[in-house]
Amino acid sequence: MADTNSDLRQLAVSGIRRFNALASAVPGCVKLTLGEPEFDTPAPVKEAVSRSLAEGQTHYPPNNGKKELREAISAYMRGQGLDYGAEDIIVACGATEALSATLLALLNPGDEVVVPTPAFGLYETIVRAAHGHVRALDTTGSGFAIDEGALRSAMGERTKAIVVTSPNNPTGCVYGPESLDAVARVAAERGLFVVCDDVYNRLCYLDGFQRLAARRPELKDRLVVVDSFSKPWAMTGWRIGWLAAAPALREQVEKMHQYLISSIPAFVQDAAVVALGCDPAPMRETYRRRRDVVCERLGAMGLPLTRPEGAFYVFPDVRGLGMASEELCERLVREAGVACVPGECFGASGFMRLSYCVSDDQLELGLDRIESFVSGL
Ligand SMILES: Cc1ncc(COP(=O)(O)O)c(C=O)c1O
Repeated sequence: MADTNSDLRQLAVSGIRRFNALASAVPGCVKLTLGEPEFDTPAPVKEAVSRSLAEGQTHYPPNNGKKELREAISAYMRGQGLDYGAEDIIVACGATEALSATLLALLNPGDEVVVPTPAFGLYETIVRAAHGHVRALDTTGSGFAIDEGALRSAMGERTKAIVVTSPNNPTGCVYGPESLDAVARVAAERGLFVVCDDVYNRLCYLDGFQRLAARRPELKDRLVVVDSFSKPWAMTGWRIGWLAAAPALREQVEKMHQYLISSIPAFVQDAAVVALGCDPAPMRETYRRRRDVVCERLGAMGLPLTRPEGAFYVFPDVRGLGMASEELCERLVREAGVACVPGECFGASGFMRLSYCVSDDQLELGLDRIESFVSGL
C-alpha cells in the first residue's frame, strides 16, 4: 500500500505544543511555554471587523490581499525604510503561511537551507516536507551572533537559501551589523535567497535596531521579508501576516500562496488596516520591563544568559544544572509546577526557553517556582 510523505512522517509534532500539553495536565502549572501575548487585540481593530461584516465583506477577496491593505502595508514598510510597493506584497495566513509559501516556492528536492540555530522549528518542518535539508549554523558559541567563518563552513553544494530571524525566537537576540553584513556578503557571493523572518521587529528594545532588508538593499531581488500582525498587536488568533518580495520572486511565491490558501478573509484584512495605525509601544515597554525582571531573577539563580534585545523570550544556559534540558523541563512541570520549553525543540540542547508574554503575577510565580526547584537541586 502506498505511504504518506516519508519526510513528513519523520517529523515529530511541535515540541512546544507537547510541553504545553504536558503542563495543561498539571493543575495550576504556570505556562511559560507559548509565544502568545496575554494582551487583548486593540479595541479599534476588533471594532473594524463588525463594520466590515456589516458592509458585506464576506466574499472571496483578491488572492494577494485587498488593495487598501497592500497599500497600507507598503506605506507602513516605507516608513520603516523598506521600499516595497503595494504590488510587491502578499497578504498571508500569518507568517506561518508566508514562510511556507516562500520556502515551497524556492526549493527543489535535495536543496539546502541554512538555518542559524537555536531556531524556531517551523523552518525545518517546511524545508523537510519540501524534501529539502536544513544546514544548522550553531550560534550558541558566539552569543547567538552569526560568525562569517562559521556561516561559510555551514554552506553546502546545494545551499540555496538562508533564514534570518531578528529579533530571534527563541533567544530574543538581535543580529548586529556584523551578523547582517556576514549574511549579506555570503548571500551575494553565493547567489543565495534570503528569508527574513521579521515578525518581532516591532518588539525590539534597541534604539539602533536594523533590519537586513533596510541595511543591505542590494539583496532585494533575492530577499523575502516576512512580517505578521500576530505579535505586535496581539493578533495571534486572527491568522494574518504578509510577505514582500521583488516582482520575479513574488510571482513564484504568489502561485504557491494562491494554491495553499487562496486568500485571507476580507473582514480580517479591513481590521488589519486599522492595526497598522495602532502603536504597539505600550506592549513593548511592558515586555521590556519583564525582560529586566526575568534576566535579574535568572541571573541571581546562577543561570548564564545572553540578554534578549527583543521579542518576549529568554534562553538561559542550563548546562550547570546537571541534567539534559528535556529532563529539566519535564521535572519543572511535574515537581515545580512551571513549564518552559527545552532547547532541543530549537536545535540547542543545554538551554531552555521561557516566554515572558504572560501576566506579571504568573511570571513572578513561575520564576519563584524555578528558583525553589533550582535551589533544591
Ligand atoms: C520567529 C517566528 N516566525 C513566525 C511565527 C509564526 O507567526 P504567525 O502567527 O504570524 O503565523 C512565529 C510564531 O511564534 C515565530 O516565533
